[in-house]
Amino acid sequence: MNINIIVAVAQNRAIGYRNQLLYSYHEDLQRFKSLTIGHTIIMGRKTYQSLPNGALPNRRNIVVTRQSIQIPNCDIAHSIQEALELCNNEDEVFIIGGAEIYRQTLPIANRLYLTLIKDTPNKADTYFPDYSQWKIVHQEEHDFFYFEELIPPKSMTSTSSPSSSDISGASRGNSTIGS
Ligand SMILES: NC(=O)c1ccc[n+]([C@@H]2O[C@H](COP(=O)([O-])OP(=O)(O)OC[C@H]3O[C@@H](n4cnc5c(N)ncnc54)[C@H](OP(=O)(O)O)[C@@H]3O)[C@@H](O)[C@H]2O)c1
Repeated sequence: MNINIIVAVAQNRAIGYRNQLLYSYHEDLQRFKSLTIGHTIIMGRKTYQSLPNGALPNRRNIVVTRQSIQIPNCDIAHSIQEALELCNNEDEVFIIGGAEIYRQTLPIANRLYLTLIKDTPNKADTYFPDYSQWKIVHQEEHDFFYFEELIPPKSMTSTSSPSSSDISGASRGNSTIGS
């Protein structure tokens, strides 16, 4: 099973404020949908509560919580491990946040689908963990953000290295971001 993380991060790794997203871009939403539809998404209870219309359609929603609660159209897991065990038969699962869940799953994830926003917000209270050791294998620049795909440092072996065309021109882009 591939454990994918999908997240939109600002320059300072901020991802949320008062249990809401910081940014909303149509293209980013479309990318999120096309990557996750048909797969299982795993989220923390607070992220679930931030969704305007509850469970996301056309995907299996798993909500991680320590509470004994039921949530419409969602499966409940009481630990990250339990959530992943519910996905035993699946090829791809997507961790969709928030910060607490990202922190616990980054060490075991296989791929990071990042939207790197070319901005630093004035206010934020939740942050993505440090991913500076991860390697960019694909990067696509847009007006207000980069779409990036990254793999963990341990994946950079001779057999799993991306082709040079995959990484050509890919860098964290900090020198140009915000300019
Ligand atoms: N930018 C993005 O891409 C993005 C994506 C998603 C979310 N966000 C933002 O992130 C923020 C929410 O993140 P957050 O860190 O506050 O909350 P969160 O990670 O969404 O949820 C935290 C909750 O998950 C449950 N939980 C966490 N670890 C657990 C474990 N090991 N076992 C069982 N349950 C566990 C607990 O629920 P209980 O309290 O019910 O036990 C905990 O309170 C919001 O601002 C949201 O908008 C941003």
